[in-house]
Amino acid sequence: MTGVYSLNLSGKPMNISVTGGAGYIGSLLVKKLVEDGHEVVSIDNLTNGDYGNLRSLGIHKKAELLVGDIRDAKFIEDVITGSDAIVHLAAIPGLVKCKERPEEATSTNVYGTYRVLEAARKLDIGKVVFCSSAAVYGTPVEMPVTERHSLRPMNLYGVTKLAGEKLMEIYHENYEIETMSLRFGNVFGVGLFTNFDTVIPKFVRMGLNEDDLTVYGDGTSSRDFVHVEDIAQAVVLSLRSSDKGGEVFNVGGETMEIGALAELVAESVRSATGRRIGITHLPPRPGEAKEFSYDLEKIKELLGYRSRWSIEHGVAQILEYTRTHLNP
Ligand SMILES: NC(=O)c1ccc[n+]([C@@H]2O[C@H](COP(=O)([O-])OP(=O)(O)OC[C@H]3O[C@@H](n4cnc5c(N)ncnc54)[C@H](O)[C@@H]3O)[C@@H](O)[C@H]2O)c1
Repeated sequence: MTGVYSLNLSGKPMNISVTGGAGYIGSLLVKKLVEDGHEVVSIDNLTNGDYGNLRSLGIHKKAELLVGDIRDAKFIEDVITGSDAIVHLAAIPGLVKCKERPEEATSTNVYGTYRVLEAARKLDIGKVVFCSSAAVYGTPVEMPVTERHSLRPMNLYGVTKLAGEKLMEIYHENYEIETMSLRFGNVFGVGLFTNFDTVIPKFVRMGLNEDDLTVYGDGTSSRDFVHVEDIAQAVVLSLRSSDKGGEVFNVGGETMEIGALAELVAESVRSATGRRIGITHLPPRPGEAKEFSYDLEKIKELLGYRSRWSIEHGVAQILEYTRTHLNP
């Protein structure tokens, strides 16, 4: 369940730079940090993001929403001067986009991450929180997956995220920056908006359009699904923590098989609209792990993280949002 939680960082206002602040996760985080009284600078080149949602809430009057590229050393060093911490979200996210645009993906996710760390080193910024992914693990050989599991990414996205994590580790060891890497599961839910490229909102939209829900494989593939509000919670707990430099954390919510998820969405659409939705199976997609579930003990114990959103509650939220905003 949701529950309201404070994002207050021990009551002390901080200067925080957020890369990718116009994106799905970044825009929610910028809003929450501003609401809690922090000085926020967002950097985004708007290749995938849009400041429209933050502007419509008036956040542009309270935070700097800048357009620029993390690979532009002069720009980034100019704008993050004076920050206490950086949350580094800017990336080409997901295996499909990285496969389609390998040059941009490698350049942004690896070189761009290096530029962010270099800026932190030169400007003496003490903390960098890096947004990584479950894609660094590849196909799990032991479940649930702990942070000590072997790292064998199966696609370019996972490789770029692993490279980013290694850069974080080295900058912590060599330059004593307190870097932390957060390995997000599949993020879902409505923040300032929802991302329709991912499976839960896609299913909801298909269902509302009265299309069959398409499941790749036999439906027994499983994933960890974590609500975007819980992701914001994990980032804030990381900003608030001390002495966790060089650490990596799984950030997850609830595990579900894709077939069960399709049934849950079909049932939710049926009870909301009275329409019966079918489920169609397609061949499995290459480069994707079959089963995946997270062990979340480390982040619970060391950062006090608790997932507050069930998949069922998140599906209801997306259904309501999609019916209101997209009117399918
Ligand atoms: N959404 C998920 O399911 C998920 C899962 C695991 C990890 N992550 C990670 O979380 C982060 C945020 O993901 P998201 O879902 O909000 O994606 P998003 O695409 O909505 O946000 C990323 C933002 O980065 C910006 N950006 C891209 N290249 C840039 C560059 N060179 N310079 C400046 N800005 C640039 C984009 O315009 C976009 O606004 C990413 O690092 C992603 O890999 C996301």
